[in-house]
Amino acid sequence: MDSHTALFGVIGDPIRHSKSPIMLNRAFRETGVNGGYAAFHVTPERLEQAIAGVRGLGFRGLNVTIPHKVEVMQFLDEISEGAQAIGAVNTIVNENGRLIGYNTDGIGYVRSLKEEAEPDLSGKTIVVLGAGGAARGILWALAQEGPAAIFVANRTEAKAVELAGSFPSAMRISAVPGNGLQSVVAEADVVVNTTSVGMSPNVDALPIDPAWLKPGAVASDLIYNPLKTAFLSRAEERGCRIHGGLGMFVYQGAYAFEYWTGKPAPIAAMREVVLASFV
Ligand code: ATR
Repeated sequence: MDSHTALFGVIGDPIRHSKSPIMLNRAFRETGVNGGYAAFHVTPERLEQAIAGVRGLGFRGLNVTIPHKVEVMQFLDEISEGAQAIGAVNTIVNENGRLIGYNTDGIGYVRSLKEEAEPDLSGKTIVVLGAGGAARGILWALAQEGPAAIFVANRTEAKAVELAGSFPSAMRISAVPGNGLQSVVAEADVVVNTTSVGMSPNVDALPIDPAWLKPGAVASDLIYNPLKTAFLSRAEERGCRIHGGLGMFVYQGAYAFEYWTGKPAPIAAMREVVLASFV
């Protein structure tokens, strides 16, 4: 760091568990960008001041995590089309004093899925388990890939109906009733778990019965603690291709890096430093 260092950070509450600082600082070092990235614990009542601080200090960019992704939007100057459609921002770019909000979670997930498991999603049938904030971003990004159909299933069915209905019908996103899930999963090319079922410490919990999966289909999980969930282990035993949640984290950060610097993100180095931090 010196007097030319461009400043970046992540705000959230809680934030001390975040692996974004090690990942982004490694990316800056790897690419020779003179940047520094830190984690800031910002409670909801200080959110507005924090964004004023970004302007005042001329931070070049900021990541935004729970619980600020929706509330932060009111303090920005412009919201990208994708972030508007998703209704949440996780990345801010400071363009000469104008703060522009993006959402890289969904597109980060899809880039990871395409790089690591299924390069061509067009014409595919996809099932999304869960109807929370994470599901929303992923649904929007998956729909951009031209799948044949996307089905949303959720423990609380009404939330799946509401979420699916909030997208334009051309995106072919529909809700599955609980009793129809098995037959939809049996036909699906990709099944992605966006719920917290299977997250540490409840590592044995399963979001669906893996015996429903079509062998050769992709089983995908947003959870990265553990790196391989019970859902993925059981799917693998069934002959499915598996895709864990670490890639989504890496690629959402990679997109942020690319928006801020205009350079390709050093994916391998970013993944390596995050993986090393788990042991
Ligand atoms: P996120 O932003 O990570 O998506 P969220 O908005 O709280 O978090 O959504 C959590 C999702 O996980 C919801 O779809 C939730 O289902 P409900 O809408 O029925 O609450 C799902 N979920 C959480 N715990 C679950 C469990 N034990 N079984 C099934 N679904 C669960």
